[in-house]
Amino acid sequence: MEIVTYPNPILRSKAKPIEEIDNEICQTAEEMLDIIYDAGGIGLAASQIGLSKRLVVLDVTGEKTGERVFINPYIIEERGEIIEEEGCLSFPDVMGKVIRSQYVTVIAYNLKGEKLKIEAEGLLSRAWQHEIDHINGCLFIDKMTPASTIAIKQKLKELELSYQNNRAGVS
Ligand code: CO
Repeated sequence: MEIVTYPNPILRSKAKPIEEIDNEICQTAEEMLDIIYDAGGIGLAASQIGLSKRLVVLDVTGEKTGERVFINPYIIEERGEIIEEEGCLSFPDVMGKVIRSQYVTVIAYNLKGEKLKIEAEGLLSRAWQHEIDHINGCLFIDKMTPASTIAIKQKLKELELSYQNNRAGVS
């Protein structure tokens, strides 16, 4: 299982709701958790491994405990505004300041199908918004400050070029 990188079009697609939590979902979630721990990330959406499903893994503490797999998550409330530096595993070496809500309330389901209500602030709030954006086909570059948007322009061009070259079989 590999991380899909920008500008692969799957990152722009709206992921499909999960109707049934089966073994495949559980296994995929396990593998996604392995990916974030290996890569030193804090979250991953299924579209980032090429899967159009509303499945997200999150572990902002890196402690490998507690609820870390979330099905069909969505935001029901958000307030405040905060700008902080952010990165994404689908954008190697790209960092920029992203405008987010300060607090969010999220509804999601765990692997047992239980409904969860999560109130988040700080890094967790930011991570939730980032991952829910992913399953809606929205990327962190869309919400960057104007200054960061300019600063990362060249890096994005390089990623686009390397994607085209890989597709053309030139590596
Ligand atoms: Co991301």
